[in-house]
Amino acid sequence: MKKYIIILLVALGFLSSCNHRQEKTSWDYMGDFDMYYSKAYESYTADKHFKNGITLQKPVEGTMAREWTDYEPYPFKDKFGDKVKAGQVLHNPFPASKENIAIGKMKYDVYCALCHGFEGKADGSITKVKNAKGNKAYMIPPANLTTDVIQSKPDGEIYHVITMGSAVMGAHASQISPDDRWKIILYIKNGLKK
Ligand code: HEC
Repeated sequence: MKKYIIILLVALGFLSSCNHRQEKTSWDYMGDFDMYYSKAYESYTADKHFKNGITLQKPVEGTMAREWTDYEPYPFKDKFGDKVKAGQVLHNPFPASKENIAIGKMKYDVYCALCHGFEGKADGSITKVKNAKGNKAYMIPPANLTTDVIQSKPDGEIYHVITMGSAVMGAHASQISPDDRWKIILYIKNGLKK
């Protein structure tokens, strides 16, 4: 008889841990440990675990976002002074394959064509914009990218121009990933005709 009572109690114990409405978890064997119920802190709340008392911490020093030269340790910070040096040191890591040139064209058409023109001939739509007096709104013309001067530039030099900008041309480091910059150069060298 005693045996049956024990079995019954055990069965009741199991059954009582089931909850057909599934609104809340049932009893935990291990108790209320952090491993079961981790304490998630909201980003902008106080936090006693950090010395400065806040939850949202700065990334560890030296951390960098992947693929963006803005945060990469790009060594050639001098826009004009480092251009030639960048051309000597940096080399295009991508072969001039059909695929890479096609990606370069796609990116060029988005980021460069409005100024340099779809064919690179310095006749992008921006060059036709007029100011209120009917004069050219943009006085300084973009470079013609099909000329020997540009075509004979080392890839690294053009990479530097895209990354840091030129005289009036803005830096494009925050818009175009390093990989895509190199592919744009492949397109300039292999896809634009004189
Ligand atoms: C808003 C207009 C504008 C856009 C967009 C633009 N450029 Fe330029 N770019 C210029 C102008 C203007 C010049 C010539 C004056 C100067 O050097 O700033 C120039 C010059 C250049 C030069 C020659 C620099 C040198 O050393 O003589 C290269 C190469 C170049 N651009 C490539 C590009 C590429 C590649 C893109 C797209 C990623 C691009 N540009 C986007 C306006 C633009």
